[in-house]
Amino acid sequence: MYSYSSHEGYTRYASLKGRTIFITGGATGIGASLVEAFLVQEASVAFVDVDLEAAAELCKLLAEKGLPRPLFQVCDVSDINALRESIYNVQKQLGNISVLINNAANDQRYETHSLTEAQWHQGLAVNLHPVFFSAQTVQPMMKALGGGSIINISSINTHFSPPNLAGYIAAKAGILGISKALATDFGADNIRVNSILPGWVATPKQLEKWLSQDEEAELMKRICLKRRLGTHDVAKLALFLASDDSAMITSQELVVDGGRI
Ligand SMILES: NC(=O)c1ccc[n+]([C@@H]2O[C@H](COP(=O)([O-])OP(=O)(O)OC[C@H]3O[C@@H](n4cnc5c(N)ncnc54)[C@H](O)[C@@H]3O)[C@@H](O)[C@H]2O)c1
Repeated sequence: MYSYSSHEGYTRYASLKGRTIFITGGATGIGASLVEAFLVQEASVAFVDVDLEAAAELCKLLAEKGLPRPLFQVCDVSDINALRESIYNVQKQLGNISVLINNAANDQRYETHSLTEAQWHQGLAVNLHPVFFSAQTVQPMMKALGGGSIINISSINTHFSPPNLAGYIAAKAGILGISKALATDFGADNIRVNSILPGWVATPKQLEKWLSQDEEAELMKRICLKRRLGTHDVAKLALFLASDDSAMITSQELVVDGGRI
């Protein structure tokens, strides 16, 4: 069983205790680590995902670690009405959302020369559009709370593009633009909007599909810190950006990638 790493001994942010956190794509990978990290902070955590089985497995794993059960809802984030409904349901059950993390994505690779319009639009529907509409939906809640933090997960691939990811990278670059625009428009309500750009994170899926031993050896030549980037490395940055410790940080793009050379 893959371990999402232990969050024991990690910094505890007093400001996160009791806050309502909404995470998209929380069932596996970085999202699962985010769910765990915020539960450890004694926040009220809600997440959505399309993968029911993985979500159930995560909830079981969290219970075994003695953590409270997060609020899980099945939701395909490309269905904006369903996404809005999930957000309102969390508001009803856990109160106004204080932290939104747009993490869900599909990094399906398509041969660029034969990428179809349907594939292009479907990619943006999952990877880009929900980032804007979820933020638009939570804005009145955050305003009512006197502020909030929106964290959008982009990718270092916006700077160093691997092959056959044009649609995905267009979405991830779009996320950087949306984040800047929303940071401007929501700033007067004390709502902060930042992007995280992870490097290649060794999730179970990446290890199974792409991050072979050879790829990893190549990667180690291109990063300063010669070790694997874990899902918890991204979660730690998200905790900081969600907390009041980063109260004057907004409209930023923060890279966590071991230092690309
Ligand atoms: N893993 C990496 O190396 C890496 C690098 C840079 C950026 N990122 C970004 O970090 C985030 C998390 O990546 P990950 O590697 O953990 O991904 P992952 O594929 O392991 O997990 C993504 C989660 O989103 C869910 N999801 C996919 N489509 C969905 C949909 N339409 N509606 C709801 N949920 C959906 C999946 O079921 C899964 O649980 C993504 O935004 C990704 O682009 C990852």
